[in-house]
Amino acid sequence: MSHVMNTYARQPVAFVRGEGVWLWDEAGKKYLDALAGIAVNTLGYGHPRLKKALQARLDSGVLHTSNLWRIPDQEAAADRIAEITGLDEVFFCNSGLEANEAAIKVARKYGHDRGVAEPAIIVMEKAFHGRSLATLSATGSRKVQAGFEPLVSGFVRVPLNDLDAVRQVAEHNKNVVAVFIEPIQGEGGINVSRLEYLRGLKEICERKEWLFMSDEVQCGLGRTGKWFVYQHAGFQPDVVPLAKGLASGVPVGACVVGGRAKGVFKPGNHGSTFGGNPLAMTAVVATLDTIKEEGLLANATKVGQVIRDGLKAEIGAGMKEIRGMGLMMGVELAQPCGALVKEALEAGLVINVTADNVIRLLPPLVMSEAEGRMVVQRLAPLVRGFLARSSEPTAAAR
Ligand SMILES: Cc1ncc(COP(=O)(O)O)c(C=O)c1O
Repeated sequence: MSHVMNTYARQPVAFVRGEGVWLWDEAGKKYLDALAGIAVNTLGYGHPRLKKALQARLDSGVLHTSNLWRIPDQEAAADRIAEITGLDEVFFCNSGLEANEAAIKVARKYGHDRGVAEPAIIVMEKAFHGRSLATLSATGSRKVQAGFEPLVSGFVRVPLNDLDAVRQVAEHNKNVVAVFIEPIQGEGGINVSRLEYLRGLKEICERKEWLFMSDEVQCGLGRTGKWFVYQHAGFQPDVVPLAKGLASGVPVGACVVGGRAKGVFKPGNHGSTFGGNPLAMTAVVATLDTIKEEGLLANATKVGQVIRDGLKAEIGAGMKEIRGMGLMMGVELAQPCGALVKEALEAGLVINVTADNVIRLLPPLVMSEAEGRMVVQRLAPLVRGFLARSSEPTAAAR
């Protein structure tokens, strides 16, 4: 019996080697990866540039110092993140929930600085922000919250893509200081915010002097064909939490601030022992430079289109909808389809199913068009077979 705490329903497969978008299990079987460790392995596996940078870091002997000292690689990583986000200050941590926890603290501090004693944050139904007490309270899923009450207070929940709901809260709740949105909801089923809606939200934030906080932990960092989803809508948020794909597999998180949130945190307001250490920062710099130099934003748009078009053509009417942008895609079926994960593994393909009936694809950004077509070739027959089986009359109905 394993001593690993049983918090995940795991598939009985262990990947022990990787190259590009390919993984091998202990028995030597080869898999095409269309999940990237849930949007983490931006550069796929064994990217020479990342390997070289991490090897040099190991050779230096310095994996960790402390935020008590200057960390040159942290400064280099922050410069690059400021450039791609268009924002000003970066706080480094180690995960998505920590980046979001920092964002929530920034919003509360911003409120207190403006004389709001009990600041509130507008959050969205079906959003996922993490599993710490504050971030699970911000998360729009009862499943994530159940058993951990009392929840952290100060969150007001509205449906996604419903501007009137936000207007109503704006009218009646004087404590609101921020809107916190996951602009493409990943865990919630690849639910995409309309760009008009995002712009409308931003307008309300401007008028009310609220912070606009965009959780781009899963959807950010090039996956949608631009660095960030808010860039599709054409404006700057005040706070952008990042993690997952930022260092291609080395654990890291970042809370990026600008606009009204700039300067809210002062020395002593927040901290992290590991946050921004030389090991993680080396991986951030190598990942961001590689995305830029290899044109991976344009690649995400192109290969995402190949996969979407392919699945539409090959699966056809059986699926309810295919959603997403670039290499962040969800194929919604009319019925729960978790069983497809195992069938896909058997067929040498790594996928995920979320929100019960949405096949989620988040491939490494280095996937080629040919490999994108292979995803379609492997996935479409499985889905067709699944749909055919689930439309057969059951024994009872016969
Ligand atoms: C949008 C979003 N925010 C936050 C998180 C939490 O990140 P972590 O698991 O690194 O704490 C996730 C993780 O899935 C996420 O998708």
